[in-house]
Amino acid sequence: MTYSRIVGTGRHLPERIMTNADLEKIVETSDEWIRTRTGVERRHVAGEDDTTSDLCVAAAKKAMAAAQVSVEDIDLIVIGTTTPDLIFPNIATLVQEKMGIHGCPAFSIEAACTGFIYALTTADKFITTGTSKCALVIGAEVITKLVDWSDRTTCVLFGDGAGAVILQPAEEQGIISCHLGADGQYRDLLYYPVGAGSQLEKAGIVEEAKILMKGNEVFKVAVKTLGGVATEALEANGISKDELDWLIPHQANLRIIQATAKRLGMPLEKVILTVQDHGNTSAASVPMALDVGVRDGRIKRGQLLLLEAFGGGFTWGAVLLRY
Ligand code: UT7
Repeated sequence: MTYSRIVGTGRHLPERIMTNADLEKIVETSDEWIRTRTGVERRHVAGEDDTTSDLCVAAAKKAMAAAQVSVEDIDLIVIGTTTPDLIFPNIATLVQEKMGIHGCPAFSIEAACTGFIYALTTADKFITTGTSKCALVIGAEVITKLVDWSDRTTCVLFGDGAGAVILQPAEEQGIISCHLGADGQYRDLLYYPVGAGSQLEKAGIVEEAKILMKGNEVFKVAVKTLGGVATEALEANGISKDELDWLIPHQANLRIIQATAKRLGMPLEKVILTVQDHGNTSAASVPMALDVGVRDGRIKRGQLLLLEAFGGGFTWGAVLLRY
């Protein structure tokens, strides 16, 4: 049996850091509120000229160096993002062009914060069916560009960044199983009302360009759904919670992560946490957390990892893999 296996990881964060103290100067908030309600202490914010594709390229180069592959080896690019540079050409082709890669399929997937999990799942199918031999998979966002900096209920949450992995075929176990889900009935709990859709003018919301979120309600569904999809991934493979070495969750809120870990009976020592340093970077959060764990030596070859995410739509997903 052929598996797809992660052979290299990389991340890139914009230079500018905004601390909670910086936010105290902009909106009526406090470091104490942000820390205790979200776990966020600082976040990286893209500069005016930084594009999502720039962040992607920087992260991709690091992942390719770690995997010891060159641009000639890449035969698939899949990017999960909600903040592409343009509506079209799709961002994966922009990254392809910036990196000097030619000819291979390149496309993006929009599943909000679950974008990377959807992208990884898709690339896994390309590899395991023999269609691709070396996939570049990225989760990236400049989500702060969608933020209303006068809305304290959302602007304290988000940050920008990109995380990338290289996937290749392997005979030994890599990705074991992928579990995706979505339910559009929750569309109004978390969304950004401006896009290319013709419904916007009709609805009279063209000017309302900011992230709209019913945080409390999102929180409750997130905890329940993340616990559910994690259990689904373990049960599908007859693996018990104790066998997991690392949980690598979407980093939306420390309290959501704690609740999910508790449901799984996992101590926080077995969870890779970046929310304090990155904030919620949407589709970038899981691959960046993976890279943090790999590069600081906590995640080791052969260990069992559960990646999971939840986002607007709602969308959700989990990937169980042996690193
Ligand atoms: O990534 C995709 C998925 N997204 C998520 O998973 C986010 C899920 N939701 C959350 O993480 C949390 O709901 C939030 C962090 C967004 C909010 O935390 P909360 O504990 O649910 O707070 P809340 O919305 O119930 O607000 C509590 C109070 C309110 O004041 P009152 O009405 O009790 O007087 C808010 O106005 O906190 C107030 N508040 C703030 N105060 C200081 C809201 N934002 C702030 C702020 N600083 N930044």
